[in-house]
Amino acid sequence: MADSEQTPWWDAPDEFRRMRDVLAQAGYTHAALKTRGDTAPAAGPLAEAVQRRRTAGETPLDTLIRLFAYGLPVRREAARRALSPMTPEQWGEAGLLVIRGDEVAARVQLMPHRGLDGGDLWLASDSPGRDRAGIRSQYVMGVAGSSRTLAGLTLRRPCRRALDVGAGGGIQALLAAAHSDAVCATDRNPRAVAFAAFNARLNGLEHIEYLEGDLFAPVAGRRFDLIIANPPFVISPESGYLYRDSGLPGDAICREVVRQAPAFLEEGGWCQMLCNWAHVSGQDWRERLARWCNDTGCDAWVLRAETEDAASYANIWLENTASQAAGAAAFDVWMDYYAREGIEAVSLGLLVLHRTDRETPWFCVDDGPETLISPCGEAVAGRFIREDALRAAGGDARFLDLPLRASPDVRLETRFAPTADGWAVERTHLRLVRGLAYVESVTPRVGGIVTQCRTPRPLRGLANEADPEELQALRRLYTHGFLVPADTNDPEGGGRNVDRIG
Ligand SMILES: C[S@@+](CC[C@H](N)C(=O)[O-])C[C@H]1O[C@@H](n2cnc3c(N)ncnc32)[C@H](O)[C@@H]1O
Repeated sequence: MADSEQTPWWDAPDEFRRMRDVLAQAGYTHAALKTRGDTAPAAGPLAEAVQRRRTAGETPLDTLIRLFAYGLPVRREAARRALSPMTPEQWGEAGLLVIRGDEVAARVQLMPHRGLDGGDLWLASDSPGRDRAGIRSQYVMGVAGSSRTLAGLTLRRPCRRALDVGAGGGIQALLAAAHSDAVCATDRNPRAVAFAAFNARLNGLEHIEYLEGDLFAPVAGRRFDLIIANPPFVISPESGYLYRDSGLPGDAICREVVRQAPAFLEEGGWCQMLCNWAHVSGQDWRERLARWCNDTGCDAWVLRAETEDAASYANIWLENTASQAAGAAAFDVWMDYYAREGIEAVSLGLLVLHRTDRETPWFCVDDGPETLISPCGEAVAGRFIREDALRAAGGDARFLDLPLRASPDVRLETRFAPTADGWAVERTHLRLVRGLAYVESVTPRVGGIVTQCRTPRPLRGLANEADPEELQALRRLYTHGFLVPADTNDPEGGGRNVDRIG
């Protein structure tokens, strides 16, 4: 294996515990990094100068930040102090550092992340600043924005078996380990499997199994209560990076996960995946997604976060993953590909499948809120509970008869403006302060109806049935979780309706 392709490893489990102790003792924690400003690797000489100045104190924390967050070399003596009672040589043997004379440099990025209990999870991955020549397609990404979004949306109920498809460095699997009896993680990239296995041991998590292979192939015949996937969803003509490009045409990788996942779900199990899908000329994208979910035996819900036209989409990804010159050259190739495939725009969102024994499962699409206030898992499950409750009551025609109450997370905000003889209501907002934090502008009348639902009641008699706009607004408030079925548990009280998956 070429030097640049090496992944970190220690044979002795005890060394992992000692390494955790070194990191914790130095205060290399997510909380500490939050107070240190930008911790991304140096993007050029100016950023590097700033980062060198910020870590000039050479405390153990400064040294670890400089090495593993900024990706800048440190003096060997400073590394020795930071890693004590271990040594730079030991960390070098594990593939984490390289020693060049009096200087020590990191071979990996190693970052602390917030675990579900507020403690730290340390995760090693390839360093973004590193020359990727030797490892290009097998580059293992660290925790990205998409990783955090999916982690925040994942249902965190206790479960027996969880599966992380396309595990990368393993962040989703590490988080799932906190509420699962056993976790399995698959990845097509052998380097990702090696990093993820290293990370599991680094964090002292023994109940995660890592398997190399395509999507669900390594777990044939097995069933899970929770499946999580952050697949290589980028829609492009390229196949340069396994973490970004599936090598399949258009959005086929996401469709594949949707088609295959249900066979691996226990009854009542959930699959949550991030998804990019194409808006193809002449086709309704909602219908395309509905077709993906047909015959899966699962209720399916799509939460659309945003939609970019093809040019903006290509620009975002090329800025992210290519130099200016390479990006400019690739841009036209990407645009020609979109033109050939009839792709006019691309949407990003979460797709959730819930396996059900119902004869005709449902499919719904919503636009997401501007803000997610994590954890959002229970808010995701709540959307399913509301849809089920309405259908059980007889559907939209019976909406006004369904006993509802205001969610405990609703806040009513009224803005007043001065008038000639006092103050008049200018705007009324309803806001959810947790989870999927929707904000709805409503009429004062609708705001008043919601306040009357402090105790459960049907809306019939409260709503003006002759006003379609008011009815629509109330229906939307139900969809988005401002109003909930009367018998919905408060999630603070231990989970909504069901508190264990499977
Ligand atoms: C976007 S990364 C996600 C990494 C990690 N799960 C996270 O949330 O940060 C996608 C991962 O899927 C893996 N992958 C790509 N194609 C795959 C396939 N056909 N089967 C399994 N894994 C695949 C890549 O190697 C990469 O690690």
